[in-house]
Amino acid sequence: MSRRRVAILISGRGSNMASLMEAARAPDYPAEIALVLSNRPDAEGLERARAAGIETLAIDHKAHASRESFEQALDSALRERGIEFICLAGFMRVLTDWFVESWAGRMINIHPSLLPLFRGIHTHRRALEEGVLVHGCTVHFVVPELDAGPIVAQAAVPVVPGDTEESLAKRILVQEHLLYPKALDLICSGRARLEAGRVVFSEEWDAGGALHSPH
Ligand code: GRF
Repeated sequence: MSRRRVAILISGRGSNMASLMEAARAPDYPAEIALVLSNRPDAEGLERARAAGIETLAIDHKAHASRESFEQALDSALRERGIEFICLAGFMRVLTDWFVESWAGRMINIHPSLLPLFRGIHTHRRALEEGVLVHGCTVHFVVPELDAGPIVAQAAVPVVPGDTEESLAKRILVQEHLLYPKALDLICSGRARLEAGRVVFSEEWDAGGALHSPH
């Protein structure tokens, strides 16, 4: 089996990165984590990836005069290493249309809400303010519009009385760690693919399986 060469882009602690790395240790997983790249040289996740023997790279956005030159450096580093697919995992830089379009159909992101609800930041706070009873996380293809793009997989969790931003974030993070490796598997194995701007699941795949049940 040929495994897709995947780069994970992070800016912080990298717990989703760790769950992807863990999944990719299985010999039958259809992706290998070939690179972990951060825009912050001090990102905690870099050390964790290094310890796991994965190549890491820091490209500090502050060392670049423009967003374009930062992204050129990012793009060259990815192409030089033969990266075929990108997973954004807590990568806190907004990407330009140029970068997004050069990786169209080959870049996914995990977002801590049930999209299209609560795009942007502070998703858990806003979910509590709105009084929703169900919240969750989404893996989606990246398109120029922020936190939009065809949905690959979602996991829902209940919002319970007494929940705080922290308790909700914690409950959802558990699901993120299960959902992201599953979504990458679906794509790299060809069981989920993009067709005319939507994700289509292969017939042998029960599409309901992309909705990860927490129970
Ligand atoms: C996660 O909540 C993810 O959904 C969001 O950023 C956070 C990253 O956390 N995009 P981690 O760095 O993976 O621990």
